[in-house]
Amino acid sequence: MSLYPPRRHLFGAALAGLLARQAAAQGERGPSGEGLAAIGRASGITFGTAVDSRKLGDAAYAAQVVAEAQLLVPEWEAKWAALQPRQGSFDFGPLGIIASLAQANGKQLRGHALVWHAAMPSWLAEGLAEGAAKARGLLAGHLDGVLPATRLAIRDWDVVNEAIANAEGNPFSARTPAQGDLRDTPWLRALGPGYVEEAFRAARERDRTLRLTYNDYGLEGDNPWAEEKRQRVLRLLRRMVGTQCPVDALGLQAHLLMDEPFRPEPFAAFLRSVRELGLAVLVTELDVREAQQLPAGLPARDAAVAERVRQVIGTALDAGCRTVLTWGLSDKDSWLAWDPDVMRKDGQMHRGLPLDEAGVRKPMWQALATAFGTRRG
Ligand code: XIL
Repeated sequence: MSLYPPRRHLFGAALAGLLARQAAAQGERGPSGEGLAAIGRASGITFGTAVDSRKLGDAAYAAQVVAEAQLLVPEWEAKWAALQPRQGSFDFGPLGIIASLAQANGKQLRGHALVWHAAMPSWLAEGLAEGAAKARGLLAGHLDGVLPATRLAIRDWDVVNEAIANAEGNPFSARTPAQGDLRDTPWLRALGPGYVEEAFRAARERDRTLRLTYNDYGLEGDNPWAEEKRQRVLRLLRRMVGTQCPVDALGLQAHLLMDEPFRPEPFAAFLRSVRELGLAVLVTELDVREAQQLPAGLPARDAAVAERVRQVIGTALDAGCRTVLTWGLSDKDSWLAWDPDVMRKDGQMHRGLPLDEAGVRKPMWQALATAFGTRRG
């Protein structure tokens, strides 16, 4: 089975083909000039974004993606619940829509995510509760179903997502019960703390040239809980590298919070340590949650968001990061607009992505363009 052409999803493929042609006609120039894909490329930086296959029916959305992004990541379509909704029955239709758009426009695709405690179908949660042997079989079955089918289209996968426990004081959740540094998840309960390494080894066994990425959030801020989480991630990566467990990159989700302080130094020191392990660093899901107490007026809000992005992305690029993806392009398409865990409670919409509701480029777009442009060699 292969991602293209997904014969069972002819409608999807045809639709994507049509959209792809429409989008390609406009190309990498948005309504106001060259996109971030081209600006990044000139400096050896790959810019990308999360894509929602259901929105590709909107020609303006598809054109935005093609104009701005060189690398696409499915926001939902490559998660376990999307790819294997029933045990042994794989659905590549929605992912195929994104893959077709990518292929028709010369874009790359990255995979997200093979092992994660969220987006699990209920049959998987039930299976994992049956113990280690069963869990190992389910992991093997998923990798056997997914990796060969996506091999041509996807050369970089988030193999494990969010395995590290949040430290005391974090604003995301109450302190996550953990075993060592690891978050309490059905995978940890089934396989023990070695499950992360098991997943990476199993992925490498099936595809020797795949780039294997560990992806996590809450690693950017200048506060004790972010520092503790950085140390936990470092311990995991050091253990993996030290035991010759295959891992190639760290993905920083970078769901930034304006309510947390940022200083380049601790973040830069962490990235240096990761790079010293021989790993690449990617920014995989950049967006910004604005402060509870908003600055007065849109220009001040947008300036604050742009300045934070300039600092964080500038530090990451200085540390050798060469891939930056935002979690969507426009504020209206963002999970920050509707997900109860992350949306604003005051009726306002977070302005945490490069384009505003109308698709107009904001200071955050400019901050990325400038950060990429000033690193031209
Ligand atoms: C989010 C999606 O954006 C939402 O649409 C979905 O309902 C929940 O997941 N970290 C991740 C992403 O790794 O997969 C999450 O995406 C955002 C946080």
